Parts: sequence; C-alpha cells; structure tokens
Amino acid sequence: MKATGAATATAAIGAGEAAAGGDDSYAGIDSLLRSLSLEQKVGQMTQVAIGTFDPESASIPDSFGVDTLGEYFSKLGVGSILSGGAAPPSFDAQTVVEGINDLQTYNLDHADHGIPFLYGVDATHGNVLLEGATSLPQRLNMGSTRDPELVEHAERHTSAATASMGAHWTFAPTTDLQRDPRWGRFFEGISEDPKLEGDVSRARARALEADDRMTACVKHFGAYSIPNNGNDRAPASTSMRDLRTNLFPPYQEALKAEPGTVMVNSGAVNGKPAHASHWLLTEILRERYGFEGMIVSDWDDLNRLLTNHDYAPDFRTATKESINAGVDMYMIGNGGSAPGPVKFIDTVVSLVEDGEIPEERIDEAVRRILELKVDLGLFEAPTVDESRIGGVLGGAQDASEKLAKESMVLLENDDGTLPLSGDEDVLLTGPGVDGNGNNTRPLMQHGGWSLGWQGPSAGGPFPRQTLLVDELASRVGDLTHVPTYYDNSTWWAGQGDGQNQQSDENGDFDLTDQQEADVRSAAPDADAVVVVLGEGCHNEGFGDRDELVLDESQQRLVDIIDEKTDDDTPVVGVMLAGSPRGSAATFEKLDALLFAGEPGSDGGVAIAETLVGEYNPSGKLAFSWPRNPGTPVGTTPVQYNRYPPTSTGATDNSPLYEFGHGLSYTDFEYSNLSVTPSAVKDPGKAETVTVSVDVTNTGDRHGEHIVEAFNTQSYGSVLQPLRRLVGYERVSLDAGESTTVEIEADLAALEVVPGDIPALDAKLVEAGDYELSVGGLSTTLTIKGAGSVTSDGPLVSLYDRNDDGRITGSDFKDLLGKLWTDDDHGKGKKKGHGKRRGRRD
Ligand code: BGC
Repeated sequence: MKATGAATATAAIGAGEAAAGGDDSYAGIDSLLRSLSLEQKVGQMTQVAIGTFDPESASIPDSFGVDTLGEYFSKLGVGSILSGGAAPPSFDAQTVVEGINDLQTYNLDHADHGIPFLYGVDATHGNVLLEGATSLPQRLNMGSTRDPELVEHAERHTSAATASMGAHWTFAPTTDLQRDPRWGRFFEGISEDPKLEGDVSRARARALEADDRMTACVKHFGAYSIPNNGNDRAPASTSMRDLRTNLFPPYQEALKAEPGTVMVNSGAVNGKPAHASHWLLTEILRERYGFEGMIVSDWDDLNRLLTNHDYAPDFRTATKESINAGVDMYMIGNGGSAPGPVKFIDTVVSLVEDGEIPEERIDEAVRRILELKVDLGLFEAPTVDESRIGGVLGGAQDASEKLAKESMVLLENDDGTLPLSGDEDVLLTGPGVDGNGNNTRPLMQHGGWSLGWQGPSAGGPFPRQTLLVDELASRVGDLTHVPTYYDNSTWWAGQGDGQNQQSDENGDFDLTDQQEADVRSAAPDADAVVVVLGEGCHNEGFGDRDELVLDESQQRLVDIIDEKTDDDTPVVGVMLAGSPRGSAATFEKLDALLFAGEPGSDGGVAIAETLVGEYNPSGKLAFSWPRNPGTPVGTTPVQYNRYPPTSTGATDNSPLYEFGHGLSYTDFEYSNLSVTPSAVKDPGKAETVTVSVDVTNTGDRHGEHIVEAFNTQSYGSVLQPLRRLVGYERVSLDAGESTTVEIEADLAALEVVPGDIPALDAKLVEAGDYELSVGGLSTTLTIKGAGSVTSDGPLVSLYDRNDDGRITGSDFKDLLGKLWTDDDHGKGKKKGHGKRRGRRD
C-alpha cells in the first residue's frame, strides 16, 4: 500500500515551489500532523543507529522489538536514522549513496505516513566517513589558525561532500570550550578562549549548512567539556558565573548562524543531568538564546539517566523528564540491552495517555522535525543524485592544506635550528608501524572520528592523505626511516571480558630491540634527526587519561637520539597529538619542537614544508600546556584566562606554553598601539572598538603573523581574569614590510556577571579603565558607563516560581505567599531560625 503514503505526505506539505522554501513552505504541516496517530508522531521523534543498508537484515538487538531493519520504517515509522562514530555501513562512497537512496525508497514505500527520514552522521572535521575523503585538521588545529574565514571556506566542502553521500545532517560543530586536557574529547575543542571557540564555531555552523540539503548541530549544550575529574560524561561542577561568562557564550555565538539542530550535553551540570534540565534546554536555549530548531539527545542518553547518572529510577521517568525538559528527538544506539525504539515509543505514548507529557509538547517536537525536513527539501526530493559524490570526494585540498599549514605551532627553536636547509641526510623516527607492519602514523595524523569512532584502522581504509615520510623524503638530501612500534588497538582490547582498556598514552607504544638498534646505528650518521612524538587516536571515555606524559618508550627514544648525536646535530621533535603531551624534561633534549596536532589529510605536506622552511609557521596555541603533565592534581586545567593568583605553593603551576604561544622563522615588532574610541559611554551601543597597531616584519623572510589584542588589567565588582582575548587578526608580511593592523575588539569579551555569588544579574561591561595590550605595548580603554553588549538580562529563575520561563503576576503572588508564610507566620519556629522553603535556596 505504502506508496500512497509517500504521495499523501508530499501532497500534504505542499511539494513543489512551496516546499523549496517559499513563504508558505510549511503549509500543510498542520494537516500532516493531524493525520498522524500518536504512535506515528513519536515515531518521528525516534532516531535509530543503523549498521547496514539492507532492510531484510535481522542484525538488530533483541531488546529493540523489531525483527529486521526494514521494520524500523514499516512498523515504527522512525523519523531519522544515523551512522554513529563516523562509521557508516561502508566506507565506500558509492555503496553509501546507493544504499541510503535504496533505504529511503524502502521507507517511503513501506512507512504508513510516507515521510522521508533524516540521515545524520558525524562529519566532524571534513566528511571523515569515506575512503578518500578530505579529513580537515582536527578542531584543536582549527583553533591554532585563528582563521575562522578559512575554516568556513573548508567546511563548505564538508557540507557538499556530506550531502552528496546522501546524509542530511552532521553532528557538528562541537562548541564545547576546550579546557581540560585529561578529557578524552579535548581534541574536539577549538580553544580554551570563549571568543575564539565562538567565532570558529559560528563559522562552522554556517558553513556546514552551505549545501541546501544539510543541517548542522551545535553540540553538546551546554558545559559538556568540564567534567570535574576529567572523565567523559562525569558531572561538571561549575558556577553560574562561569557558565554565563565562559561556557555558554560560544554556543550562543554559534547559534547566531541559526543551525537547524542542537545536541544535548551527555553529562550533568551542578548536579542536574543536562537531558533532564528544563532550565538548560528550554529557559536558556530556547527562551533566552532564541533557538527555534530541533533538539536531539545524545547517543542513548535518556537511558543514560539511569545507567550513567543513576538519576532516574526507571526509563519511564527518564523519558518523561527529558521530553518535558525539551528533547525533541531521541538518538538510539545499536547495541547492548538498552531500551530500543519500541520501548521508547510505547513509553512516550503511555506518558501522554496518562497526562504526564502534554500532547502539545509532542506536536511541538514533531512540527520542528517536519519543518526541518521541509527546509532540507526532503519531501520534494527524498533521494540524492548518485553521480555527484564522485566529483566532490576528497576535494578542497587547497583549503585543507592551507589550514593544516596555518595550524603548525612552533613551540621551540633553539638558535634557529629550523628550518632545515633541505640538503641534510635526515633520520626520521618515532611511532609509525604496528606488529603486522601496518603504517600506523596516519592514525595519529587524523585522530578520532576519522573512518571510525576511534580513528581509522591500522590497515586502512584511510581518508585522502599525504604522509610525512614521503613528503620529507622529496625535500631533503637523503631520508632514513625507522618507524617505532605503535598499535592503536588498546582501547578495544579486553572488551570481550567486559574490561574497557585505556592507556594514558591513548595507544600502545614500544621500541623493539631491532628498532632501537636501527636508531642507534642511523643517528650518528644523520645530519639531522626528526623524531615524531605524541599520542594515539582516541575518543570519548576511551581517551580519558590522568597523565599527559609521553609514553615511556618515546621518552627513551629521545634519550637514545640525544646520546647518539653530537651537539651540532639538530634534533627536531614533531608532535602528532590531540592534547598537550610531554614535559620540559623531554623537550630540553630537543633543539626544536613543532606541535602539529592532528593535521588531517594534508598533514604530511604541511609538516614537511614547515620543517624545510617552504612554509614559515604562524600558528598559535589555542590552549595552555600544563607544566606538570604527570601530576594532574593542581596543575590541570590551567587555562590562560583563569583568575589570579598565577601560582602558589611549592609547585610552579604556570603553563609551560601559554595560549597564544607560537614561534616563526622571522621576527615581528609592534609599534603605535592605539584604541578608537578610547572612551565608550555605553558598551551596549558601541559593541566594538578598533585596536590599531603597526606591525613590522624585522626578519629576513616572509611570514604570516597573528596579532592578538588582550585585556590585561581591569577592576570591577568581581574577579577579572588574568588576560582575555578581545580580538585578533592574521597578517602576511614580506621581510622588512610594515602594515597597520586594525582589530575589531569585541566588547562582549569584557562582560562579566556582576554582583555577589549567585550571579543572576544581567551581564555587563562594567565602568572603569581597561588596559588593552598587544605584545609588550598597552593602551587604555575607558568605559564610562556600564552596559550590556549581549543583552543577557538577569536570569529569571529566582522569581519564576512556576518554571514557565516567564515572570508574571502569579509568580509574585506565589513568592509573596511563601515569604509571608515563612517569615511572618513562622509559627512554631524560633525567631531568627525560620526555615526558608524557597525551591531554589
Ligand atoms: C557523541 C556525539 C555523537 C554521537 C553519534 C555520541 O557518543 O557524544 O558527539 O554525535 O555519539 O555518533
């Protein structure tokens, strides 16, 4: 029968010109909604992970309540499917696009309602789901570039490549402030600075929707990135002031791009799981930030209210709280004994029938889902042109290569060790081969979410890639390569017996006797040694670590090289890692150290060109590198914009390399710093001021340079961070060239939540003098009157007695009633000890 279903739904929402985005493109959604049964509506709110495109496949968890994949559509009418972990059923592009088209056709033919499904994937740094795809530099590299325009340009390709494979939705950009390097998702953050995190996330959110058939997903709202013990999905202990000043602003900025969807934080904030927080999802995200799109849960996260947080006694309670808090769609994974789609649908239906979830809440969620499908043109064209992906896959090489180069951060360069002349006989060593002879260095180059959840498999397939060994070989006199042992399988080992293995190094590294002998014999003859250091690719909880030391065998490798080379032989470290790794004790044995991060497809070229000076490095760290990586207590997190004091006690807790550190092969000098206007009456009306500074390339070669303006001193009603970034600009200067750089400094970066500890007041730039600095120069900006740039008024919660997000007369009536009862009629209570029963004390 079901073909008529498709025709009905398509006709109902008004296909044709209207569906393509005309004024009345949503016409018909009302009648479509009315035509759906409650079960069908909740079906639309259901997203299931798929492991195959075959509707006949019976590989479905027993607890899921269906026999075949096809029954997700024919029996349940699910609204969405996903391939989690950057792992679609096949890494072959043509297989994917044909498979997804076939499945969509099956859905339309078999689902009663005939509504096309949404297909979501994790294209988190490029379309990293397909063999040969462009893997853009990871997010922590994007932060080092300070180049949101270039990131945006590159991510437009991601949008096209992801749409061409038949997906409609990428779970990106990750917009979680990058603050704690113990956390296994540190590499997914742009920066520890909220302005930089926000700027790049907004650019990405906009770019990822560049293709008309793609929607983005700002995630994971909010404050996912600061688990109190560094472990994934552990609760965040933070303050209202920190949330409003640092953690929320990046999401708020990204939301300005009007992304179609937002994903919820899997953790808990101040003792409340985000998925059950009406305050977070409705009062802040929707009412305060004006988000009108669809809210999706994270993977199995309704169930995680039981299993991870031990918060809800049963799935029914978890479901009720999450849907009432504001979750519109439940993302259901494909494993274990977790409640599947049947259980979810039955539970919601029963909650609605029992009056515990209002049916209007369901209609609201389904309307958002249907509107998104209309926006993406799915009713009009449910399937995708299968010939397009071939021409798009692996593209944007120029942008990707430029990004990779701009993200290279030169941490150390003693006496101009780098660049190499290019004539040297070079020994290249460091992790790069497993016990089966597989080349494993590409894994470190791409990181997690790259053709697999924990990164690519050792034997491939791989994204498109250039490799350091090849690129260096063609740029130096002679190259000897001694890769040492690295196996990425440790995260998976032991799963059979229920033990999830992790290692602090995020991989299994070793130096075999043979490898050691080869290094010992090659090092003395080398004119220069390049040693790759770093960590294995990883993701989520499997990536968590409580030390940031380099693996012992890597430290030993550096010792051996140090021992076997004379003082004139340059020893250059190249670090491939998604977090700050290693300590001064190792770095002192190196003459230069390049932090390459996880530079993706074009990492090989970017590193090799930087080492030989074809490219002059310009990246700046977007995070601060802890000084004591082996002793986490007290030294991490250590972000540059922390509050005073800088350091206390016996241990030096200052960062080893601070946010903004990054060397060049040339020198830059600043002069003539000024700010215009130098006095602002009302920051709410000015929003930006212009910081102007002359920059001269005083060295002897061309270079790019990032000029950063900081607020370095100010006083107010609350603590001020040691420094905070107000703006930045990238310039390109020939040797001897000068230019005047104008930076639009963002006054929002100076906002604080004034007042005492509860921090519920409106955010403001307070009146006073603000020292602005570029390099060693400084000038003063005077704010004459306090004003709000983000118009982030006081939080209503304290007075919003009935939690409806609005303050009305009835709230005051209730509040007065409580005060009257508690204080004036405190019968039976001793004076001065009257118990307050306010709900938010
Ligand atoms: C992650 C999300 C991701 C989802 C789907 C979850 O485990 O937290 O970031 O989008 O899986 O792969």
